[in-house]
Amino acid sequence: MASATRATSRPIIPQHIAETVIAARSYADDAVIYDAFKWLRENMPLGVAEVEGFDPMWIVTRHADIREVEKNAKLFHNADFNPVLNDRASDDFTREMTGGSVSGLASLTYMDPPVHQQYRMLTANWFLPGKIGKLEDQIRVLAKQSVEHFLSFDGECDFVRDFALHYPLRVIMTLFGVPPEDEPKMLKLTQEFFGGHDPEEQRDEMKDDPVAAAKMWAAALEDFFQYFDALAEKRRAEPQDDLLTLIANSRINGAPIGRDEANGYFVAIATAGHDTTSSSVTGGMHGMIEFPENFEKVKADPAMIPGLVDEAIRWTSPVKHFMRNATQDVEVGGQLIRSMDRLMMCYPSGNRDEAVFDDPDRFDITRSPNKHIAFGFGPHMCLGQHLAKLEMRILFEELMPHIASIELAGPPKLVEANFVGGYKSLPVRFRKA
Ligand code: HEM
Repeated sequence: MASATRATSRPIIPQHIAETVIAARSYADDAVIYDAFKWLRENMPLGVAEVEGFDPMWIVTRHADIREVEKNAKLFHNADFNPVLNDRASDDFTREMTGGSVSGLASLTYMDPPVHQQYRMLTANWFLPGKIGKLEDQIRVLAKQSVEHFLSFDGECDFVRDFALHYPLRVIMTLFGVPPEDEPKMLKLTQEFFGGHDPEEQRDEMKDDPVAAAKMWAAALEDFFQYFDALAEKRRAEPQDDLLTLIANSRINGAPIGRDEANGYFVAIATAGHDTTSSSVTGGMHGMIEFPENFEKVKADPAMIPGLVDEAIRWTSPVKHFMRNATQDVEVGGQLIRSMDRLMMCYPSGNRDEAVFDDPDRFDITRSPNKHIAFGFGPHMCLGQHLAKLEMRILFEELMPHIASIELAGPPKLVEANFVGGYKSLPVRFRKA
């Protein structure tokens, strides 16, 4: 990347490709979205999408360019604009609701340096592998319960609904100290928070509303805030050894963390940590079903499980994008990005980039190194990555010895979501070991 000195014309992405990359429904069909990404990587790795109803944006599809942008959080901001893609009407709705901001949430993803670093440091140590590793026994208990539940289906079930969906939520909620009876509410709110574009996830009163996703997001956020306000109050009065207590009692520049910032933190962790992980677990099993030599390898040698976890996350890439905003004119991948231009980082595309991954559509747990960017890159790189990988490793360690074979019992179904997506359903038939 170099400071820009020369003007170049902006390559405009063909309309049907631009629409495909932006539309939530494309992400429910791997063939559609990955074809579009492949075309872009080959023909226009940095191109501008001009789609009716949206502000123009650069679509960034190559692994190297995504890393280049994300590693420099001063040149490319998250918070000057919405770091999540929205149409103009939805952003206008959010601005109206927040009194001018398109962010609406004081969480890490909506912060830039130097404030971002200050807030990230509050919990960075807690999420390091050394600290997280101490939770292994606690997490294993939850994994064993989930596997027991799965095996109770005796041969046929939905891998998402009956297995993968609940475990990561239970882990996060246990670490937070949230009582198990509140978990269904947390699950529902997260699905509304991320799934507003999918008609099956929308609240009834919002069907057919053009800004349904923004409204769902706002309504879910309000419910989250009410819930966490009460819990944070409890933890201030009676501190426990949990993450909620750590955040609720944090201080920035000597002053207690604000209500919005504390709630922003809780919501980020509560929402970021489970749909992503459960989709990656499901993707791991789907990958082994489609490419069964991997199943055999894991059965023969459990030491392959860390490779399975990384490949599951790469192949699934449950986070479809984050946006960045250029703070000055700058060149990336041979294109001149102008100050205030918006860029969409397409992680699933970077994770199928032929320049980095051999035969990238293949599910292969022996890839080494597996330099995927499903967790993003640079200062905003996923805070919970070590926890996600630990949870997944433990779950597969507990599950795999109990199944002798597994196959699809129906077509997999993916969520219609251009932000956080993944599996809605994976019907499976299995034989116990
Ligand atoms: C950020 C992916 C699990 C908490 C992110 C980002 C991605 C991501 C792509 C944005 C990175 C960037 O902007 O460069 C994933 C995936 C997961 C996962 C694929 C599971 C397989 C988790 C878990 C937690 C978590 C388990 C917490 C318990 C966060 C937080 C951020 C974040 C707080 C914001 C970090 C920041 O802006 O500084 N994640 N995540 N994630 N993730 Fe995750």
